[in-house]
Amino acid sequence: MRVSVVVPTYNERESLPLLVNALRDVMGNETDWELIVVDDDSPDETWKVAEDMASKDRRIRIYRRLDCRGLSSAVVAGLSMAGGERVVVMDADLQHDVTRVPQLVAALDDTPLAVGTRYAPGGGVGGWGRGRVALSQAATVVCNLALGLAVSDPMSGFFAVRREEFNRISSRLNPRGYKILMELMVVMRPARVEEIPYVFAPRVCGESKLSTRVVWDFGFALIELLTRSVVSPRFLKYGLVGLSGVGVYALTRSGLLSGFGQAEAGVITAAAVGVSAVSNYVLNNVWTFRDRRHVSLPAVVRGVVLFGLVSGTGALISRAVAGHLSGPAEGLGWGVLAPAMGFAIATLWNYFLNHDLTWRGHAVSG
Ligand code: GDD
Ligand code: MN
Repeated sequence: MRVSVVVPTYNERESLPLLVNALRDVMGNETDWELIVVDDDSPDETWKVAEDMASKDRRIRIYRRLDCRGLSSAVVAGLSMAGGERVVVMDADLQHDVTRVPQLVAALDDTPLAVGTRYAPGGGVGGWGRGRVALSQAATVVCNLALGLAVSDPMSGFFAVRREEFNRISSRLNPRGYKILMELMVVMRPARVEEIPYVFAPRVCGESKLSTRVVWDFGFALIELLTRSVVSPRFLKYGLVGLSGVGVYALTRSGLLSGFGQAEAGVITAAAVGVSAVSNYVLNNVWTFRDRRHVSLPAVVRGVVLFGLVSGTGALISRAVAGHLSGPAEGLGWGVLAPAMGFAIATLWNYFLNHDLTWRGHAVSG
């Protein structure tokens, strides 16, 4: 087979049939093509609509994923199923210009990867607010600088790749969030990428799934790519929560001190430690370990106790390290460094224990 078109869907029951019609017009009967819909068990039953179409047209295939959710992983799943020598990836909502598909496919004559771009002459974004344009362009610049890429639209969800090339590198992909093209380029490092301009159309039906969470995820994913997975998004979140805890501790302590006076300093310090530990626990539970968060009261109580114990040993380690380092190296500028090293080592220790102990267990959805 010549061409596979992979379309990830989530709540696109109205858009999908429109896309299928548009594709039929564009691809016609000349090319040998198939459409692969990867639907993450959409609540609006997009998969049912797709199953229905698939039963009438054998060029349409539907993969209904029950076990995971996510745009990038859906795209990778679709690419892995593709039977065509050339594979096009595009959104279901008609925001990607279907009439450009043949150009993307043809571009693979000369390059392994061809990208539909909104930011080259002839391309554009229709009906986007200033905020979103700015955000998208900032992400583009950051992405190109950080990863050493030179494409005008590295966040594009509209591209074509040779199946052979995808198969060669697929095991090295870490599909997360929205950045699948970025990921592909980092792993493939193609010598040349052909860019096909298109105008990003406004959505006709349904709504975008690009939330603030996706934007956060993008930032973390970028750091993970940059550090070659040494720094995972989860660890980064954990570290940020830890830093916020230092702030909470300092604020609580100074607030209480000015209210109750130095005489109570010991009790006040203990109270501030408690407050920051609870705030760290809560933030880690709803953010860092969101996918395994404690929901029921017994789980939360157990979580707080374990977290407290783990953090307590961490604090002892932190002190011991800081004390050990500051002793012999007095006057060598260890003033700030010693506690910082202590904090870093304790954070590592705490992280792995909390990861494997406090938040061990099954994923919660959402
Ligand atoms: N299977 C699956 N699972 N599909 C999903 C998921 C998911 O979790 N989330 C979104 N999709 C599908 C949507 O149904 C749609 O077909 C496509 O992925 C794009 O999602 P949109 O929610 O429409 O994204 P957008 O239009 O806001 O974002 C556009 O710009 C991004 C960055 O600039 C898209 O073109 C993205 O591909 C692009 O990365
Ligand atoms: Mn869209």
